[in-house]
Amino acid sequence: MRFRSARPDDAETIRQMVARIWEGHDYLLESIERRIAEGGVFIAELDGRVVGVTRLRRLADDEWWLEALRIDPDQWGRGLGRELHEFTMNELRNRGRGVARWATADTNRSVPFAADSGFRKILSMPFVHWPLNRLAPLGVRKVISPDADDGLEVTDLDEPGLLEYLLRGCLENYAGLFPREWVFPAATPERLRGLLAGRPILVRRGPRGFRAAAPLYSDDAEPSELYIAPLVGSTEAVDGTFVRALGRLARREYPGVDIWSHLPIQYLPAFLSAGCRRETGFNWIYAYELRLSP
Ligand SMILES: CC(C)(COP(=O)(O)OP(=O)(O)OC[C@H]1O[C@@H](n2cnc3c(N)ncnc32)[C@H](O)[C@@H]1OP(=O)(O)O)[C@@H](O)C(=O)NCCC(=O)NCCS
Repeated sequence: MRFRSARPDDAETIRQMVARIWEGHDYLLESIERRIAEGGVFIAELDGRVVGVTRLRRLADDEWWLEALRIDPDQWGRGLGRELHEFTMNELRNRGRGVARWATADTNRSVPFAADSGFRKILSMPFVHWPLNRLAPLGVRKVISPDADDGLEVTDLDEPGLLEYLLRGCLENYAGLFPREWVFPAATPERLRGLLAGRPILVRRGPRGFRAAAPLYSDDAEPSELYIAPLVGSTEAVDGTFVRALGRLARREYPGVDIWSHLPIQYLPAFLSAGCRRETGFNWIYAYELRLSP
């Protein structure tokens, strides 16, 4: 195989290739142009034909993210995926210092690449789909019932102490990382502010401060996707009432949009009771980390 940087005019070829993967549910269909323009996208060619794509994305000076590894389905199982991953790892070692991460579903054939190239698994989370717009009764009620005495409130990041509470929750629930779509960057105040400022955040308060918090946000570049992260709190505080209020909030703020998310496992029962489903094709999302030697 030969490897080269992707050009804008590769976008259509890549789109045609990835449309045949995961029954067309691939974020690259919507965003390959933007990713090529931002940089770090590579193409693999065999006999002059595009057979693969991958991306090495720089999140910060010392933070890297691997994404978008795809091989043409007609070519699977011939070692091309492993070769393309090894190419990406060489690019990373040539340029990188600091830390590299990536995430993949347990059903993907790329899982063995992680351990083989020195990555350590840092998170496992179930992948869920919450078809909010098909849950009829949720939309008509108020987000929080006026007579409820359960500490629920909708607020935002300006709330004193909330940013710190979410950061601490990232440390406890997400290995210190902030899950943003499939990207797990280090959780910092700047990043949380950048993504969550102005977004509604459902909180549950107790006598000694916050007991749970769940921000809702969508990536403005991919508005059909809506996420709940970083969701933090004790399992008692993130109960059915909390999750149903979150569903009503989501329907009010983002009508017509379903939620796709990965959740720390402890919250799954409350979400399942509110009509959320585990995705059978993508049961677990694994996130991996590799410390690069200087
Ligand atoms: C993941 C992907 C890039 C791998 O490409 P590939 O060319 O099939 O990869 P390889 O031939 O190198 O095989 C990779 C692994 O798949 C597994 N595999 C190979 N043939 C298989 C088959 N017929 N059935 C099931 N698994 C198989 C093997 O475990 C192999 O690992 P090994 O080298 O340790 O034996 C490709 O399958 C793909 O595009 N999948 C859809 C997108 C995706 O999952 N991307 C990864 C997201 S991070």
